[in-house]
Amino acid sequence: MERVQKLIAAAGVTSRRKAEELMKAGRVKVNGTTVTELGTKADPQKDEVMVDGVLLQKEIPVYYLLYKPSGVISSVKDEAGRRVVTDFITTDKRIFPVGRLDFDTSGVLIMTNDGEFANQLMHPSYEVDKKYIAKVEGIPSKDAVRQLQRGIELDGTKTKPAFVKVRKSDPKKGTAVVEMVIHEGRNRQVRRMFEAVGHPVIKLKRERYGILDLHGLNAGEYRELKPHEVKKLREAAVT
Ligand code: URA
Repeated sequence: MERVQKLIAAAGVTSRRKAEELMKAGRVKVNGTTVTELGTKADPQKDEVMVDGVLLQKEIPVYYLLYKPSGVISSVKDEAGRRVVTDFITTDKRIFPVGRLDFDTSGVLIMTNDGEFANQLMHPSYEVDKKYIAKVEGIPSKDAVRQLQRGIELDGTKTKPAFVKVRKSDPKKGTAVVEMVIHEGRNRQVRRMFEAVGHPVIKLKRERYGILDLHGLNAGEYRELKPHEVKKLREAAVT
């Protein structure tokens, strides 16, 4: 959702300031109703915004897969001027990330301007596989791996069963690389699960999100999603 004056300006009708004047003058309608309140918001893809009876063109939906580098915020802007995920994608559309990866996490991140699609994917019932590769402190024992697989209590509820496998261990450095596949997306879930079994995460990467992986991309690079990929991701949301 965006402020109506912003949508009018983005459609190239006039400046944001002048759009506000048009609103105050009662010349703007959203879905047939005149809106004079400057805080009014509308969905650029779903709502019909009219200026003097002329319909604004709806924004064409776009879908990207970004290989988010670590050290970047999963947001569209940052007050402190740090790098954000939208800095990596060249587009005139108002895109935003679907969910978030931590500042220090790298990997698959979907970016879109389609709010409905984003809501579907972020809904708690949307349980596609998310595969993470974590470098952790220490070498998890069989028992720790089993605990991670069966579920860890976070904020009073247990995490759902996960696939967990130690891929590599370095006894000299006292670190291990562990693969974990989860279906939920709770806040800092992977880091908190490893912390709970005494193996803090040193480095974290999301290698796969449902059908999407990082194949062919380097950190900071992106590509457009193919229509069949968007379709598959949507279908996964309704099952
Ligand atoms: N789990 C985490 O702990 N961090 C992420 O960025 C994603 C999943």
